[in-house]
Amino acid sequence: MLQLMQTRKRRAGAGLLAICGVLTTLMLATPAHAESGYRLWLRYVPVHGAWLKRYRRSASELVGPGHPSPTLRAAGAELRRGLAGMLGESLSLTHAVTEGGAIVFGTPRSSALIRSLPLDLHRVGAQGYVIRTLRLHGHRITVIAGNTDVGVLYGTFRFLRRIQTRRPLAALAIASRPKIQRRVLDFWDNLNGSVERGYAGDSIWKWRELPQYLSPRYTDFARACASIGINGVVLNNVNASPWILTPLYLAKVAALANVLRPYGIHVYLSVPFSAPITVGRLPSADPLDPAVQAWWRHKVAEIYRLIPDFGGLLMKADSEGEPGPENYGRTQAQGANLLARALAPHHGVVMWRAFVYSTNPHSEDRVKQSYDIFKPLDGKFDRNVILQVKNGPLDFQPREPFHPLFGAMPRTHLMLELEITKEYLGQQTSLVYLGTLFQEALRADTWARGRGSTVARIIDGSLYGQHETAIAGVANIGSDRNWCGSIFNQSNWYVFGRLAWNPDASARRIAAQWVRMTFTNDPAFVRPVVRMMMHSREAVVDYSDPLGLASQMAGTHYGPGPWISPSKHLPPDWSDTYYSHANASGIGFNRTASGSDAVAQYAPHVAAEFASLKHCPENLLLWFHHVPWTYRMRSGRTLWDSLVMHYVRGVATVRHMRRTWNGLARYLDPHRFRLTAAFLAIQQREAQWWRDASIAYFGSVSHLPLPPGVKPPPDTLKAYEAFCIPYLEGTPGAGPACPPDDAPVPH
Ligand code: GCU
Repeated sequence: MLQLMQTRKRRAGAGLLAICGVLTTLMLATPAHAESGYRLWLRYVPVHGAWLKRYRRSASELVGPGHPSPTLRAAGAELRRGLAGMLGESLSLTHAVTEGGAIVFGTPRSSALIRSLPLDLHRVGAQGYVIRTLRLHGHRITVIAGNTDVGVLYGTFRFLRRIQTRRPLAALAIASRPKIQRRVLDFWDNLNGSVERGYAGDSIWKWRELPQYLSPRYTDFARACASIGINGVVLNNVNASPWILTPLYLAKVAALANVLRPYGIHVYLSVPFSAPITVGRLPSADPLDPAVQAWWRHKVAEIYRLIPDFGGLLMKADSEGEPGPENYGRTQAQGANLLARALAPHHGVVMWRAFVYSTNPHSEDRVKQSYDIFKPLDGKFDRNVILQVKNGPLDFQPREPFHPLFGAMPRTHLMLELEITKEYLGQQTSLVYLGTLFQEALRADTWARGRGSTVARIIDGSLYGQHETAIAGVANIGSDRNWCGSIFNQSNWYVFGRLAWNPDASARRIAAQWVRMTFTNDPAFVRPVVRMMMHSREAVVDYSDPLGLASQMAGTHYGPGPWISPSKHLPPDWSDTYYSHANASGIGFNRTASGSDAVAQYAPHVAAEFASLKHCPENLLLWFHHVPWTYRMRSGRTLWDSLVMHYVRGVATVRHMRRTWNGLARYLDPHRFRLTAAFLAIQQREAQWWRDASIAYFGSVSHLPLPPGVKPPPDTLKAYEAFCIPYLEGTPGAGPACPPDDAPVPH
């Protein structure tokens, strides 16, 4: 009987295939509809030719559990969607294997068949999966199994990725488990719908519509996250509104949690430290005040009543105007433990941010402050506190050395915070693949326990055996149809998830897979585009902050502003000249023993390397050293010449990227091609602007001539200083940044 059903189904499938074929042709003829970028890397476009024949044999029927949970239903639906799209096979779900090529999925709990198979599931833990080709009653089958439902869902996406990237399906023996347990996207979304440092439209969370209306986008968002293993979402900005803790908003949060749950995603919230005062109407938020402790206990219990699998709380305290334990003379540990104790009975965690620095304009080197505050507190945090540390000690710059807290707090859970939204790297339009930046951060060797003590090994728990492991990325997702503001920004969401699962994975391989799934498998497209992506981050470093410079941007964090100096309204560490220390004698921030001695915060081996002019990596030279303009670089060039040549090279790389892209039109749809081409044109103009303005400014300080053959900036320094972009998305504070007079704009 089943056999008969299968045959009928296949015939129906063939008919459907023909219809699908016609539909696909029609859809491709309507480019605007076909490729808006909405489908991200989950496009599931038809496989053609020899590939199709080969894959069809591997996917003849879908065998799943009889009583699937919502998560297993999502896995089954994804398999059907993917296989229908790619193979033209509309497979319905059965519960027993009747022929070769069956795809069997489930857990030992949900399926007797899975239970009976030799799968070694113990290797993959609670979140991992096994994908294996096996023989069953003479049939060749493919099994996708996990110990938990979400493991199966992850395995499903991995299996589909193999087809998407045209990898063989014949003899599979894949086992994978995440190295980091909490893989979280931090949304800096405000409850009024705006997004701090968001460049892809408004917030995707439609607070006013919630909880009644649940946009289908939420489900597609969850699918995309699950496809790369993201399992946590902080819904709101670290500069948190107290409203998030009111019953009105908690009901909305619970509704979102219900949509995300089947995809294995736990919801977390950012909260303000002063909530006991603003929401609870208490006179204080002192962590040692029993009334404050009771308030948090009750509030957290209220959240868990609504959301039993709530992940926990994220806190930005004593930072950039946010209140914190310092207001009460308490330590960061006392503040964190206050929340930790409220969360512990529910198995929730506190992600406590280490991004803390003084507002006192006379305080010490800004990049030293976080270490100085937190290092003495090692061992003082409760077990469910995870200290969230940015990759570098300043603030998500195009290049920074690793944060010295990594390796310095062996008795504290540390997590890594990366920024996926490109706040300092060209924002919406620039093509910058962050895989290389993330990889550099993860592979940085702290030498805390000798060679190989990488940041990755600290946060995955293998160096110190920490039991809570986590990583967060500040999301770049918004209400734009293509989610991220540009097609290539999607690759940064993608690579974050993949590296969160396996921090040792290769950024290049991930880029190649993303390109194959997002565009095409044609090597004539994949190769040049991957090359372009792999060079793209160094390009932005070259034209904005070369040789270890940092924070040389305008106040909006967009475009150059190296001349910006401290004033009555601007504290030194929010100015640019503070970081470049450019003067007649040279350029760079002396962080050696004769300067701020920030090098001393690193393990001796690293400190010695950074402190030595001879051994300091040249791409961090000006971060650690103040050097004369005539200093000889390893290339034999003077520092000044070398600096100029980096700016020039950055522009040249972008020009090359643009040329490469413009030659690839025939491999993709017109919409995504044109959008990217236009954005690259914008980026080339911006790169030129950065180059010209930076050379004009630093030239006015060094008083040295440009190296031979380098074109001088077309405008005067005064003109660059006067350039003003009045409005920019994502920048907190609504008003225009400059008056609507005749201020020149960059050309
Ligand atoms: C950066 C960013 C802010 C953000 C802050 C943070 O400084 O510009 O918008 O609030 O980081 O990480 O808290």
